[in-house]
Amino acid sequence: MGERTLSIIKPDGVSKDLIGAVISRLEEEGLKILAMKMIRMTKDEAKGFYKVHEGKPFYESVTDFMSSGPCVIMILEAEDGIRRYRKLMGATNYKEAEKGTIRRDFATDIEKNVVHGSDSRENAEYEINYFFNALEVAGR
Ligand code: CMP
Repeated sequence: MGERTLSIIKPDGVSKDLIGAVISRLEEEGLKILAMKMIRMTKDEAKGFYKVHEGKPFYESVTDFMSSGPCVIMILEAEDGIRRYRKLMGATNYKEAEKGTIRRDFATDIEKNVVHGSDSRENAEYEINYFFNALEVAGR
């Protein structure tokens, strides 16, 4: 079994009709989608998701944004999946992201940066369990 990570297509990605474009890039990179759903988080749900960032200057703003519209959330799996998905996304700040990455191509703001990905195995486990129960993970 490869390494699992959580992916979110954020409200800006959904409203700009980038769901298909993002998923194509994931599949081309060999990141397998094990589970997927569209949700709309409440402010409190967004705060729980971004708990690791509690107290940071952008915490209020990013949780407002993440609860402002629907998101597509997915569990991805691949060998070295966390690092490979982060490379595909590009740097958090799209201005620093490498050419050809999702954020460089589509992001418009450090906050409205189209996608989220877990940054460690520990956070991936927390994030996956935050959104999905065992019955929702199809496996393949
Ligand atoms: P994400 O990878 O989802 O993790 C935290 C999010 O907070 C980040 O992407 C950005 O959307 C948002 N954010 C806003 N400002 C900052 C900042 N200065 N540093 C890091 N993340 C930020």
